[in-house]
Amino acid sequence: MSRPRIYLSVPHMSGLEQSYVADAFASNWLTSLGPNLDGFEREMEARLGGGVHTLAVSSGTAALHLVLRAAGVTAGDRVAVSTLTFAGSVWPIMYLGAAPVFLDSEDQSGNLDPELVEEYLRDAARRGTLPRVLVAVHLYGQHGDIDRIARACAQHGVTLVEDAAESLGATYRGRQTATTAPYAILSFNGNKIITTTGGGMVVARDPEAIARMKKWANQSREPAVEYLHREMGYNYRMSNVLAGIGRGQLRVLDERVQARRAVAARYAEGLGSLPGVSLQPEAEWGSHSRWLSVVYLDPAEVEVPPSEVVMAMEAENIEARPVWRPMHIQPMFAEAERVGGSVAERLYTTGLCLPSSSSLSVEDQECVMEAFRAAMTAGARSR
Ligand SMILES: Cc1ncc(COP(=O)(O)O)c(C=O)c1O
Repeated sequence: MSRPRIYLSVPHMSGLEQSYVADAFASNWLTSLGPNLDGFEREMEARLGGGVHTLAVSSGTAALHLVLRAAGVTAGDRVAVSTLTFAGSVWPIMYLGAAPVFLDSEDQSGNLDPELVEEYLRDAARRGTLPRVLVAVHLYGQHGDIDRIARACAQHGVTLVEDAAESLGATYRGRQTATTAPYAILSFNGNKIITTTGGGMVVARDPEAIARMKKWANQSREPAVEYLHREMGYNYRMSNVLAGIGRGQLRVLDERVQARRAVAARYAEGLGSLPGVSLQPEAEWGSHSRWLSVVYLDPAEVEVPPSEVVMAMEAENIEARPVWRPMHIQPMFAEAERVGGSVAERLYTTGLCLPSSSSLSVEDQECVMEAFRAAMTAGARSR
């Protein structure tokens, strides 16, 4: 096979990044201070709107660690979080010695089920086991139904955090992602809709909270001549070089969203008529960025499980992936508290993510669909 490998989601540079990076080199602002960092933060604030403040950091995981600490999470606290997510949503809970409580999904978007959140918080309030924080993850480029969740959190004094690592470019009732809760995080990991090759961002409504997190991210160095520390710190800052990549990427975010949505639309058209195959629907409350195109296989009509389709596509040198394995069925979290979980398990056992890069050519999209159809037919024949 001569065709190069088709990956799930690759970086897509615009060319604009290089001039920001060149500025960083020319001015020798190469490390953890500089105009690109300030520019990236201000430009992201303008892009998100809603009066938010930001702090560029080394990863989305680091951003969540800072945010949970700013929200007052300490050892022994509970932190509720979507079970259907990537482990990066959960590690920072563990870093702080807190206990995750995994909450189930609703089946439209795969994100937190607002009704279940309301019930869970009511019960937890009655039992005196309320979490300090609730982390709502917006999966695969689609927003969760955040208003109801925000109301329930406010009612019970639980701080809401949006994990928007996968949803930059998505909207919710006309607002940009990451602008509803007091705190949110973004990721610019290499596979995300825009990338700094690796990086993340804290988003917060309170500028004083941002100032505190900025200090923690800079080794908690006090503003003194000597190296004075009163609190625990981390080395979590983003470099001015990488922030330059972020600035160039942010300028083409809308184009990247459009391109990914076009990929999803082509998959819907080319695969949606296969019996039992459906593209993840777009919820009525917002616009999906289609960071990843998720396809569901109805086991009543499709005999091949998604894992076999992933392997068959791998044999064609195409990278597809199962939907996230829910956290409550991860060996690491076998002992953790959970609320429901069957919806997330169903989405995991019936869903897969198809190559979704904004740079994916129409020919490559055809190859993906051809391999997908062949996997369906071969699977059906072998049974
Ligand atoms: C939902 C979610 N949360 C958190 C993270 C962590 O971000 P990072 O890889 O930048 O640490 C990721 C992805 O990478 C993610 O997909």
